[in-house]
Amino acid sequence: MEKDKLLYRQAGDGDIPQMAEIRAGDWGTEPYWRERIRQYLGAGLHPRESLPSRAVFVGVEGDRIVGLIAGHLTRRFGCDGELEWISVRPECRKRGVAAELFNLLAEWFVAQGARSVCVDVEPSNLAARRSMRGTAQRI
Ligand SMILES: CC(C)(COP(=O)(O)OP(=O)(O)OC[C@H]1O[C@@H](n2cnc3c(N)ncnc32)[C@H](O)[C@@H]1OP(=O)(O)O)[C@@H](O)C(=O)NCCC(=O)NCCS
Repeated sequence: MEKDKLLYRQAGDGDIPQMAEIRAGDWGTEPYWRERIRQYLGAGLHPRESLPSRAVFVGVEGDRIVGLIAGHLTRRFGCDGELEWISVRPECRKRGVAAELFNLLAEWFVAQGARSVCVDVEPSNLAARRSMRGTAQRI
């Protein structure tokens, strides 16, 4: 049987349950993330010093979401953009999903005129830091 191809697109409200499931795998609960993501998509959630423009992309294999990325314009730390969330399902990691999601968000930031982007990441989170390198180079 042929494996479903990975596709990338903007997220919509119908993706919220699966996105919440993925985020809750890293931290928190699904109800918490369903509400938080719903508010973020609807611009009802305002991360510190954020501006209204925001983008959320998902990687999709068949009807399963394998990863998500979210970012917005900001004035935080003197930056133009902020990466809000990135998560890939554990069983789908190390296949370049995060790198592709970072590229999409980087293109969106560039299209918005954002040239400097900040992200809150644990220094010990090597996976996240390595997968962000390409994006940093693109912007
Ligand atoms: C961080 C995360 C999104 C990476 O997703 P991924 O799809 O596995 O990443 P990719 O396959 O695109 O890998 C991109 C790069 O990171 C590297 N990388 C991925 N996982 C790694 C790990 N555990 N340790 C070291 N490097 C890693 C890859 O080797 C690749 O490097 P390369 O371009 O030099 O080959 C994923 O591990 C995740 O969801 N973690 C939990 C949530 C999280 O920590 N989010 C970030 C908080 S800011």
